[in-house]
Amino acid sequence: MEPVIDPVAESLGDAITIDAHLANGHDRSLAEDVLDGLTRPFKELPPKHFYDARGAELFDRICELPEYYQTRTERSILNERAGELAHVTRAVELVELGSGTASKTKVLIDALRNAGTLERYVPVDVTERVVRDCASALTAEYPGLRVHGVVGDFERHLDRVPAATGRRLVVFLGSTIGNFPPGSRRRLLRELAGLLDSEDHLLVGVDLVKDPALLERAYDDAQGVTAEFNRNLLRVLNRELDADFDPEDFEHVALFDPEHEWIEMRLRAQRAHTATIRALDLPVRFERGEEMRTEISAKFTRRRIATDLHAAGLELTDWLTDRDELFALTLSRRSLSPVG
Ligand code: AVJ
Repeated sequence: MEPVIDPVAESLGDAITIDAHLANGHDRSLAEDVLDGLTRPFKELPPKHFYDARGAELFDRICELPEYYQTRTERSILNERAGELAHVTRAVELVELGSGTASKTKVLIDALRNAGTLERYVPVDVTERVVRDCASALTAEYPGLRVHGVVGDFERHLDRVPAATGRRLVVFLGSTIGNFPPGSRRRLLRELAGLLDSEDHLLVGVDLVKDPALLERAYDDAQGVTAEFNRNLLRVLNRELDADFDPEDFEHVALFDPEHEWIEMRLRAQRAHTATIRALDLPVRFERGEEMRTEISAKFTRRRIATDLHAAGLELTDWLTDRDELFALTLSRRSLSPVG
């Protein structure tokens, strides 16, 4: 792959445009997050760094696990309700954050193409390869569809989303919104609201509060795939920051915090030791049994997400859920009188 200079706009024929805002996978935020998170009294790393190639592969395997109901439930809601969403939104363009392979999104693209409104798809993802592959696959499959891919981090590069060409549907699936603690969650929702005009819609997938045992199983599967996914974060640090973690020194922990109603994943040191992050000249001491938080995954009630949306200047207009109320899709629009 040729090196990418920040930013690069490139046209591949008429159908595809790719803007790259990240230098070849080099995410400066990793070093900052590690320095910040591992020097705190309660160590913590943000979950966004799980997703290198191996992490993305492990996450794909998680989505297939019997315990991990989220992905298939969200897909089944989309399958059932895509026609209705297309009818309500009449979107001319679809903007997707953390688009990945867009496998769930295809259901929406199908429905919006059938409704005759969709002209452009705008995937935003940190992985350049993923954006490019998805752009070629979709333009081949849907003649006339334009794809304007944005290689970027949706926490930092939302201002790079190209100007709207018509009625917009912004989608943020997979309950990724749950990875943000309440304050940042509202800030992100507010930024998403900023992508909307008065006729536009936002579709956000949220995992719902349920039996803690079911939740904990979804994050601690019998095959140990989630444990490997969690420990993979240490491999990312070893490779990217020349650290010397032994992933086997850490045990996977997943627990439901009933007060906050979120799942926490942690890595628990099995023995007292000091790891060194050589790129940062940073020794990091772990006591035996010390836990480092690697992810929160908030679980929602209708009321909680409606309140968060409201605080971000959005109004919940539709609540689409499965029969067992495991997962929900929320459709919202800008409030007539935005808060703040
Ligand atoms: C895709 C971020 C929503 O929190 O459920 C899966 C990631 N972590 N298993 C989630 C994840 C552990 C997932 N999100």
